[in-house]
Amino acid sequence: MSIERDNRPKRTATLTTNDQTHALPVMSGSVGPSVIDISNLYGETHQFTYDPGFTSTASCESKITYIDGEAGILLYRGYPIDELAEHSNFIETAYLLITGELPTQTEYDEFNHAIMDHSMMHEQLLEFFSGFRRDAHPMAIMCGVVGALSAFYHDSTDINDAHQRFVASRRLIAKMPTIAAMAYKYSVGQPFVYPRNDLDYSTDFLHMCFAVPTQEYKVDPIIARAMDRIFILHADHEQNASTSTVRLAGSSGANPFACVAAGIACLWGPAHGGANEAALNMLREIGSIERIPEFIARAKDHDDPFRLMGFGHRVYKNYDPRARVMQQTCHEVLNELGIEDDPMLDVAMELERIALSDDYFIEKKLYPNIDFYSGITLKAIGFPTTMFTALFALARTVGWVAQWNEMIEDPSQRIGRPRQLYSGYTERDYVSLKSR
Ligand code: CMC
Repeated sequence: MSIERDNRPKRTATLTTNDQTHALPVMSGSVGPSVIDISNLYGETHQFTYDPGFTSTASCESKITYIDGEAGILLYRGYPIDELAEHSNFIETAYLLITGELPTQTEYDEFNHAIMDHSMMHEQLLEFFSGFRRDAHPMAIMCGVVGALSAFYHDSTDINDAHQRFVASRRLIAKMPTIAAMAYKYSVGQPFVYPRNDLDYSTDFLHMCFAVPTQEYKVDPIIARAMDRIFILHADHEQNASTSTVRLAGSSGANPFACVAAGIACLWGPAHGGANEAALNMLREIGSIERIPEFIARAKDHDDPFRLMGFGHRVYKNYDPRARVMQQTCHEVLNELGIEDDPMLDVAMELERIALSDDYFIEKKLYPNIDFYSGITLKAIGFPTTMFTALFALARTVGWVAQWNEMIEDPSQRIGRPRQLYSGYTERDYVSLKSR
């Protein structure tokens, strides 16, 4: 796919409002829909545009990730997600997302070293964990500890210094597995396992999660590869809610650790990263193939707030390309672990089959998304459901820092400041307490 800039003569769109006609510049990207530039609209017309949920609004220009939701295509810097999932690894994908190009061997080795040698945390940060209840949600711990990194790494919070930005990005990617693993260890009451620089990123993460000091623990390479692929699939997804949160927080000049903590908070919601946890809970609740019709009927009932979790997407109106890789990874993991009959997988496959042939889901173009199969896979690897979103946050950190860096380097970057359609009271006089 060509990534050339559109050099055709500048186009305009015409808007007529208050009996006046305005020519609005139309900007074309390398691929995908063009955008109508309305940045001067308020100045010219004294009117705002209205787009709750940003369904038709491009909030920035980006060169990182491209999605064609109708065709079910996802590209990182031009490379299809399934090719990266098959041939690349998470560290190489991180390099690609951040720098724009696949690394040479020397670049790869240097980057890998820069990440793996910074996986330890300031020892005092470990004390933060004991401030949480043992049953704290790992995402609550992640929000707190990642935000707290800003209090420990003052030498990488000057966002105007490119080197400090690189150091902060490297620290975030390097320390996120350590923080996530420690959040898990804390919840099960086991001692923290320190990172090991001789292991690769995903093997090290699994080791920190599942090893105990009393015996040697060898990570299954097939499971480590599956974990790595899950990280690749989650690494970036253009201007989704959490990435937009990171960009918005960063637009005020906030430091990168604070911005990523904001992204984690946004990711936690069940409509976003929390959906994998919700999807698994739903499969558990359905329990057996016989009960699927009951849940399909509930999902179609407008008076019932229930939705099929792991189905539907704001952008994909086709099969989520990540879901295909995830489904295959799920089967590989279950095979490797010798889980031949997982009742939840049976329910998932039958639910998918029924939903994909149901008129309601066909008409609304609701297809399984990445979260549909990731929960089953992560559960089989040994993670409790509460950890699912934390793993998503770990992987998405790469996308967050790539997008944050791109935003800081963009000369047109300004503080993000949406406007509103005000429908509250107009001015009225204050009434004293005794007269109310
Ligand atoms: N089950 C049943 N009906 C659904 C579902 C669903 N999962 N998703 C959407 N619909 C219906 C919805 O009721 C609406 O119907 P109508 O037009 O008759 O009112 C129509 O489809 C459009 O839905 P919407 O809520 O307006 O679409 P949206 O783009 O605002 O929401 C979504 C996208 C992902 C939040 C939504 O599909 C959803 O809640 N899905 C379940 C949660 C989920 O799996 N989220 C993970 C997203 S992928 C991971 C990530 O990127 O974070």
